[in-house]
Amino acid sequence: MITHSWGPATTLSAGTTLERHILERQRQIPGATGDFTGLFQQIALAAKIINSRVRQAGLAGILGLTGARNVQGEEVQKLDEFANNVLVRSVEAGGHLCVMASEEEEEPIRIPDHYPTGKYVLLFDPLDGSSNIDVDISIGTIFSIHRRQTLGRHGTLADCLQRGSSQVAAGYVIYGSSTVLVYSTGDGVHGFTLDPAVGEFFLSHENIRIPARGKSYSINEGNTHLWSPQLRRWIEHVKMPRAAVEGAKAETYSARYVGSLVADFHRTLLKGGVFAYPADKKSPDGKLRLLYEAAPMAFICEAAGGAASNGSKRILEIEPSRLHQRTPLYIGSREDIATAERFLREP
Ligand code: AHG
Ligand code: MN
Ligand code: MN
Repeated sequence: MITHSWGPATTLSAGTTLERHILERQRQIPGATGDFTGLFQQIALAAKIINSRVRQAGLAGILGLTGARNVQGEEVQKLDEFANNVLVRSVEAGGHLCVMASEEEEEPIRIPDHYPTGKYVLLFDPLDGSSNIDVDISIGTIFSIHRRQTLGRHGTLADCLQRGSSQVAAGYVIYGSSTVLVYSTGDGVHGFTLDPAVGEFFLSHENIRIPARGKSYSINEGNTHLWSPQLRRWIEHVKMPRAAVEGAKAETYSARYVGSLVADFHRTLLKGGVFAYPADKKSPDGKLRLLYEAAPMAFICEAAGGAASNGSKRILEIEPSRLHQRTPLYIGSREDIATAERFLREP
């Protein structure tokens, strides 16, 4: 479990805006400068702008490919580029960051010399689930905030390569049937739903806790032919009807897979269960990126009472060595992750 120096989650009434929620936390930190609050407000603004464009995507003629490819070698959808630019422009001038890094950019993003720099580092996946843009399935934005470790005016790659357990905060926005921003500073997980008429995020999911065990498993079974025998045995186990207690009705897990990490994780966080993007013969490190996909989701999941592993080790304990390094990811209900690790450990 992560502990955080900030006090217990305050009980705030519904109708609480994200801004007020963040300010309440700021008031509990002796000597808080308002830097974190300022950065978070800029991220929330970027989320509203991206949301607005996502909602128009089908109309704005921006669907389809730019023809460009990103550092991952994937076709960059126009919305990826747009979301990346919006995030960078929204936070670069605020003086809260010393450096940032994006899935869409090979190198860390330097704060322009004519702007002040600050003590935080922002890592992000501006648009997660890009392959779902054109088919109107939920997509999202994922972000991770660290404190800088180096001195000097500008942050460096070293400031970006920090283990997940040192995150100051992590969050994601899901552009789904509604637009929800979920974040944690380590002492609780809270969700805010955007009221487009007002343009504000309102507290809708206070102190989210993930069930100890769930009823759904989420994995791309199209890759079964690439899986290890241990992985296959785990999924076969999950599929077998099992009585929770003797004589009780046999329970089975439902298969749920959206293909957007943000959507698959959000469902798992709220309802329990397990999401996995494992290593396989084609992708020995899995597909998901550690710094701006697995680590922020792991931070949130553990803060909600869940677990996140690479199959044998806590995601939050992995020491990053490369900006875009990938990791296998098993994340969700604590008991479900323990079962997965038990099967994966077998010879
Ligand atoms: P991104 O769009 O940022 O590249 O992320 C896509 C990721 C993640 O959202 C999702 O869990 C995974 O790709 C789905 O991969 P498959 O299509 O291989 O199942
Ligand atoms: Mn992604
Ligand atoms: Mn992405």
